[in-house]
Amino acid sequence: MTVEQLRDRVEAVLTRSRARSALLTESVDEKELTAQHSPLMSPLVWDLAHIGNQEELWLVRDVGGRDPVRQDIDELYDAFKHSRSSRRSLPLLSPDEARAYIGTVREKVWDILSSSPLDGRRLEQDAFAFGMVAQHEQQHDETMLATHQLRLGPAVLSAPEPPAPTVEATGEVVIEGGPFTMGTTFDPWALDIERPAHSVFVPTFALDVAPVTNGRYVDFIEDGGYDREDLWSERGWSHRIAEGLRAPLFWERDAGGAWWRRRFGVTAPIRPSQPVVHVGFFEAEAYARWAGKRLPTEAEWEKAARFDSSTGSVRKYPWGDAEPTPSHANLGQRHLEPADIGAYPAGATPQGVQQLIGDMWEWTSSDLEPYPGFEPFPYAEYSEVFLRGDYKVLRGGSFGTDEVACRGTFRNWDHPIRRQIFAGFRCARDVESR
Ligand code: AVJ
Ligand code: FE
Repeated sequence: MTVEQLRDRVEAVLTRSRARSALLTESVDEKELTAQHSPLMSPLVWDLAHIGNQEELWLVRDVGGRDPVRQDIDELYDAFKHSRSSRRSLPLLSPDEARAYIGTVREKVWDILSSSPLDGRRLEQDAFAFGMVAQHEQQHDETMLATHQLRLGPAVLSAPEPPAPTVEATGEVVIEGGPFTMGTTFDPWALDIERPAHSVFVPTFALDVAPVTNGRYVDFIEDGGYDREDLWSERGWSHRIAEGLRAPLFWERDAGGAWWRRRFGVTAPIRPSQPVVHVGFFEAEAYARWAGKRLPTEAEWEKAARFDSSTGSVRKYPWGDAEPTPSHANLGQRHLEPADIGAYPAGATPQGVQQLIGDMWEWTSSDLEPYPGFEPFPYAEYSEVFLRGDYKVLRGGSFGTDEVACRGTFRNWDHPIRRQIFAGFRCARDVESR
């Protein structure tokens, strides 16, 4: 890629993320922008100015070497200084001030982009800092989308329905034991937590072709899944009891016993062939035990998603190295829910595993650990500070994840009890090697 092509790519991803941030914050009124929709989430107007503040810190001040735009607000938008539930009562920028601020920062960034050689320092090499800032904005856009899902009131977002299934997506695939190269060293926009590439031996296992669906999840509920302590881990059961969990978040059963779910202000019957979403790690674990299976480790997930056994190579995506198109995966908020299983045959792996990328994040059984040789870059607060916390790794991205923040190596994480994120799971199982 020439420097000119790289600048065009940066411009395209930054423009796309800003259009999405605008959509998410222009679709509600001022009162809703500043409201606390859930103690788990920031007011939307905090996310908006935080996006601009990170862009100012990395691109305007560091890469550009320019004077600060608003040094006085750094503390307000430092995610580690104030809990999400306390941000509402801070002297935040008003919606109009936040919009003006992020616009001023972005104008400077266009100027810096046109003059930066996109080379030299590691931060600037291959436009890494620009790619990181675009991913950061998109990650907050997904967080804002989760805030939209939590908000009460009539629908303000709409999108076309995801594509209908065109292939069967049942059964499992056996992935033969052996080493594969996990993580990446050379993907220029990969974040620190995905690095470096290293060899991992993954014993033979079987992975489900498709994620667990609402239909199967209802079977688990009807079979007493939430009442059978033997299916749950000790911690999972305590949590299930303490919180009175009976079903995925946003689900409700009517008098006739049918299940409904609320999605972005619209209540509709659950679709049996759609992957289940808004379940926590402990629920995923209990379901897997009920099914006689288990959750995959993240190494298993990544090997299934990236390793092509016919060539022995690892690729960026299940389908190869081509950038995602709308026929590969349900990404980028093009739709507002997961597609039914079997809707993305073009996104399958050579072995036939479907929908690993997009639709919903997939809980894995792995704790968030650094890879051997991990080095925080460029700041410890992206991932290092989370390393010894209570976090499970999620893989694959959701309908609310932009393609710039999604790939076979991408590692997401959250507390095992969290259910407001767009997360579901698929099952795996030990098998004897052939
Ligand atoms: C990687 C999605 C867990 O949202 O907490 C945003 C991303 N880091 N701002 C998060 C992030 C700093 C992060 N996750
Ligand atoms: Fe952030």
